[in-house]
Amino acid sequence: MGLTPLQSRLVGSLAATILLILLYLFLFPPNFADAAEIEADPSLSILGRTLDEPLDYSPNDVALAARSLLDPTYEPEFMPFGRTIIGRAPAEVTPLTNNEAVPMNVEAGSTQRFVFILSDDSESVGEEKRLELRSEQNGNSSEILSPGTGAAVREMAPDKEGVQLTRKLARRQSSRTVYISANTCQQPQPIDPVKTTVDPPQLTLYVSISPDNDDPNSLANPDMQAEIPFKEGAVMYNITTDRDVYIGIHAPNVSSVFKGIYNFEVAASIDTYYFRYEDDAQQLIWVDSDSQGALLITHNLTIPPGVTEEAIMNNPPYVLFAHNKKDAAINGLKHSYCGLMKYAQMAATNNGRHDTMVRTSMTKRGQGSHPKQQFFFSGLNSSSEYIGILAKDGPSLLKRQTTGQSSGGITVFGATAFSTKSDHGNCALIVDLEFCDQVAYSVPFNPSFGNTTQLAKFYDSYAAAIYANFNKSLAQIACEAPPTQRYSLARNCNDCAEAYKDWLCTVTIPRCEDFSNNASYLQPRAVIHPFPNGETLDQITLQKLRPLTKALNNSRSTHIDEFIRPGPHKELLPSLTPCIGHITTARHGSGLFLSSESRGM
Ligand SMILES: *[C@@H]1O[C@H](CO)[C@@H](O)[C@H](O)[C@H]1NC(C)=O
Ligand SMILES: *[C@@H]1O[C@H](CO)[C@@H](O)[C@H](O)[C@H]1NC(C)=O
Ligand SMILES: *[C@@H]1O[C@H](CO)[C@@H](O)[C@H](O)[C@H]1NC(C)=O
Ligand SMILES: *[C@@H]1O[C@H](CO)[C@@H](O)[C@H](O)[C@H]1NC(C)=O
Ligand SMILES: *[C@@H]1O[C@H](CO)[C@@H](O)[C@H](O)[C@H]1NC(C)=O
Ligand SMILES: *[C@@H]1O[C@H](CO)[C@@H](O)[C@H](O)[C@H]1NC(C)=O
Ligand SMILES: *[C@@H]1O[C@H](CO)[C@@H](O)[C@H](O)[C@H]1NC(C)=O
Ligand SMILES: *[C@@H]1O[C@H](CO)[C@@H](O)[C@H](O)[C@H]1NC(C)=O
Ligand SMILES: *[C@@H]1O[C@H](CO)[C@@H](O)[C@H](O)[C@H]1NC(C)=O
Repeated sequence: MGLTPLQSRLVGSLAATILLILLYLFLFPPNFADAAEIEADPSLSILGRTLDEPLDYSPNDVALAARSLLDPTYEPEFMPFGRTIIGRAPAEVTPLTNNEAVPMNVEAGSTQRFVFILSDDSESVGEEKRLELRSEQNGNSSEILSPGTGAAVREMAPDKEGVQLTRKLARRQSSRTVYISANTCQQPQPIDPVKTTVDPPQLTLYVSISPDNDDPNSLANPDMQAEIPFKEGAVMYNITTDRDVYIGIHAPNVSSVFKGIYNFEVAASIDTYYFRYEDDAQQLIWVDSDSQGALLITHNLTIPPGVTEEAIMNNPPYVLFAHNKKDAAINGLKHSYCGLMKYAQMAATNNGRHDTMVRTSMTKRGQGSHPKQQFFFSGLNSSSEYIGILAKDGPSLLKRQTTGQSSGGITVFGATAFSTKSDHGNCALIVDLEFCDQVAYSVPFNPSFGNTTQLAKFYDSYAAAIYANFNKSLAQIACEAPPTQRYSLARNCNDCAEAYKDWLCTVTIPRCEDFSNNASYLQPRAVIHPFPNGETLDQITLQKLRPLTKALNNSRSTHIDEFIRPGPHKELLPSLTPCIGHITTARHGSGLFLSSESRGM
């Protein structure tokens, strides 16, 4: 029987497809395929990892040792899942391996089951052998990032004792603390987002260590299990035991106003939580904003011993998610890394998403010149409220140096609220000035003046020009003189120059707020001038401000009204701190400041 060309092509491609499927099943046991239901296909990262891994491991590796003992994926690729586990776990139960996140779908009204095998024994001898084999292969520590999932596996290179300790622990089968954590990546969505005011219900974690309850769920005996509801899409639970840990993740029935399923990632670890949230830790500070942008900054980063400041400056440790407060898409997911990755409007992450609306960099601006990470937003809506959520994703330089053991390393911090200014558009955020390098806030502006780069240049060069005069006077002081001839022993000319510069920048570059901001500490400015769009303040408002003094009529300095013409705005007067610093320096110093000030201003 002859085949037409079309038929033979069909036969050919069919054969190839079947071969491919066979090859796939051979390489990846169905357990992985089940788990791989989320977009960021974990089977890819598993592939990447197994191919790379054996070459990358260090000899004396606690993390590896701890992991291997409980980690069946360390079997050669062609021997999926440890014999013990396959033998013990019922078919519909997914085994969890140490420090490995497993993604899974769950339909409303049902429960997904997992088991974390702790009472593992038969494997340890074989594991030790394999470990020693690997030690010979390579002598370096490494870190493996699995692209796409945001998950990361970190490996340390600690001492030999660590390995032996872990082995002993495993052999003795003593109690350990098991850290169970999970994140909701996806939840049912409202069919009509406009009408739906409630958020979808949270998942629930059930944990049992009782052999009589290997299926913890919403209907099982409450005395034989712990029930922990997720909070904002995340859950953390620890239990100390020497038995196998049974885990159920239950999705509640949802009302008919929602459609869709839940998806989550769950991980068990004997080291620490893989997914962690720190709700109360305010890591992020809102510095200032204008009508389209905002500047947020982290606290001072502490530099662990053994790490250079330069290394910190080159490795921004945080990622950021931001979202309009009015939009409900991230409600119920604010503690979930993968949930934010999927639903947040704006993200600045190292892998996955980095939107052009947010730029991040390291800076040493501010008192003490400590390294900090800053986030600069643009393209926001005016007069809108946002939240920013800081997170740490996988191994960061800071964490790697401070904790000596393996961990998933995803931490989500509490939200910081920020808002944008009104659309009069006469305040604009400037940062990264050349001379006034400490300035990072909103200043009086008019869009017709130019862009913010030009605006920053305008203020910066004005301050620099005044400083040049002062610099000339300072050059006449005997700065390099021996101590007996100096004005002050406490301060030298550099302190003096630095303090003057900070003060000068603060007074020549006023901090701008919306005119509609009613805070009592703000000084109204330029009230008789028009706004950038030509509107002027109405008579009633002006009446209330009477008597109209020079300070009210005009901006802080005449050159601002002359060149920028911002129109009515309010000014946050310079805080006293720089002034006090200046005055004390002046007293200790030479009295030079007062003369320069009256000359310059
Ligand atoms: C380990 O890696 C570092 C760079 O990552 C390299 O400088 C060093 O030589 C390596 N050590 C060994 C023993 O391979
Ligand atoms: C472990 O759980 C207990 C309560 O069950 C809690 O008090 C403790 O802080 C938890 N440990 C960690 C490291 O979270
Ligand atoms: C959830 O829905 C199913 C089927 O619609 C029903 O059998 C079950 O009782 C419901 N569970 C709860 C807790 O309401
Ligand atoms: C950083 O440390 C300095 C002291 O060295 C302190 O004055 C400043 O407030 C700190 N900044 C932040 C954002 O914590
Ligand atoms: C700005 O507002 C529009 C309309 O309300 C909205 O669709 C959009 O998501 C908002 N953008 C941001 C970044 O908040
Ligand atoms: C601002 O304007 C100047 C001159 O028109 C231009 O060279 C520069 O690229 C602009 N900068 C930005 C950030 O748009
Ligand atoms: C101040 O003057 C000194 C020389 O007296 C010069 O080296 C320095 O660059 C000047 N600084 C500024 C900011 O002009
Ligand atoms: C400030 O006060 C005025 C009148 O007292 C009021 O109309 C305006 O809405 C207030 N602005 C804000 C932002 O509260
Ligand atoms: C401020 O402006 C008003 C209105 O133009 C004017 O009457 C008043 O004299 C001005 N005040 C000063 C101190 O210039």
